[in-house]
Amino acid sequence: MSRDEQLRRAAYEEMEKHKDVVEKDPYRLHYHLMPTVGLLNDPNGFIQFKGTYHVYYQWMPFKTGHGAKFWGHYSSNDFVNWTHEEIALTPSEWYEKNGCYSGSAIEHDGKIYAYYTGNVKDEEGNRETYQCLAISEESLHFDKRGPVVHLPDGFTAHFRDPKVWEQDGAFFMVVGAQTRELKGAVALFRSDDLENWDYQGVLTGGGEGRLADFGYMFECPDLFPLGERDILIFSPQGIEASGMKYQNVYQAGYVAGQFDSATGTFEHGEFEELDRGFDFYAPQTTLDDKGRRILFAWMSVPDQNEQDHPTIEHKWLHTMTLPRELKLVDGKVRQVPLEEMEDLRVGPAIQVNVELNRETRVLKAVKGKAFEMEITDLSMTEGWFDLTVGDGIRFVYSSGEQTVTLERKSYVNGVVEKRQCSVKQLNSLRVFVDTSSIEVFVNEGEETFTARFYPSPNNDTVRFETSHQAVFTIRKWDLKHVN
Ligand code: FRU
Repeated sequence: MSRDEQLRRAAYEEMEKHKDVVEKDPYRLHYHLMPTVGLLNDPNGFIQFKGTYHVYYQWMPFKTGHGAKFWGHYSSNDFVNWTHEEIALTPSEWYEKNGCYSGSAIEHDGKIYAYYTGNVKDEEGNRETYQCLAISEESLHFDKRGPVVHLPDGFTAHFRDPKVWEQDGAFFMVVGAQTRELKGAVALFRSDDLENWDYQGVLTGGGEGRLADFGYMFECPDLFPLGERDILIFSPQGIEASGMKYQNVYQAGYVAGQFDSATGTFEHGEFEELDRGFDFYAPQTTLDDKGRRILFAWMSVPDQNEQDHPTIEHKWLHTMTLPRELKLVDGKVRQVPLEEMEDLRVGPAIQVNVELNRETRVLKAVKGKAFEMEITDLSMTEGWFDLTVGDGIRFVYSSGEQTVTLERKSYVNGVVEKRQCSVKQLNSLRVFVDTSSIEVFVNEGEETFTARFYPSPNNDTVRFETSHQAVFTIRKWDLKHVN
């Protein structure tokens, strides 16, 4: 039996072995992408191919920790109903033996060209990195072509997560990197044929320019046009918290600017975080045939209390975010739930017009484990307004401080922790709750908050409270259990 077959067989056995215990977990989500067993992290190779959407993902089948990753694979025609496809890549070859790490996909000649990082470590933990190519005719089976990019001079082996695109008659690749001076950077490559790649230089970071001193590693870069600008998304590591910013262990965000494909240079502005919640990292986008720039992210952050999630008892860990469409408004990236998320709704909306006067109220009609809630026409004279889902998570708008805050009871020690950002005025909220996750879209995606939380399984209430007066309209839908 080949190494690839051995690994596949072992992963499927692991899945079978723990199926019951995994499925019994009350914190399994109803409509998000999860692993069948083990750990899921970054979205990879996200692509619409021959009409169908494919999301591959980082997967460790054998434990709820990191290690020699596989590429798992989900596909869908509507973003609501997903097929869990067979394993796409196993770390079977010498150049990827410690993991088929993150990467991307592009369609060429009617085939999927997938680029990913072959991670190799020796007994002493020394790392090697290879950017590899694998080609698929139909999205399921990949023909591995091995390394196509070797580590250029000037970088450590923390060099990974190739994202490839076509522009102005050539192919480009950005790779997340760390320079020898231990600065985070994005490296740029160019190719005419998708197989031979030339190193073009550091696109940003690496001790120069606006991101000269911005952490020690950039992971998962993604460069694409949005509206009038080019957006570079990446996940930097080693940024110190500063006021309300950079509160997670690692960040995920973007810079907006102009990429010049002829010179391989990128002029850009300041780094902005994409999400303000506790759990959002390694986002990846694709463009679909409707012209939409769609993003998935991993709903977690590496090294941030990963081993304390209660789902570990049930042999699985982590989930993806909902798919979101990106829009550029006033030079800023906004995220809104993909239109298809409306197809998750079961039945008509429950609508309630609410007026609260210095009081707390539990609305009987607004409760559940997996639901969407929209709050519009909010009018408040002063003070704050909040909503609490279950007994685990609270979202607060303070009109005086002009802030929005997400508070959760920590799953590590029960202490309340918070994430916060400025919002001049709260006009609308869209909230997606899925048993143990929450995604809050503030003012049509001006800000988003994404987090896991673990309410008592029998508490499915939503409580509203205000310090003064708040008037608003709620519409609420139960959402399908598609998993
Ligand atoms: C980001 C990341 C990537 C790497 C992958 C490994 O979460 O660390 O840089 O390719 O995960 O699973």
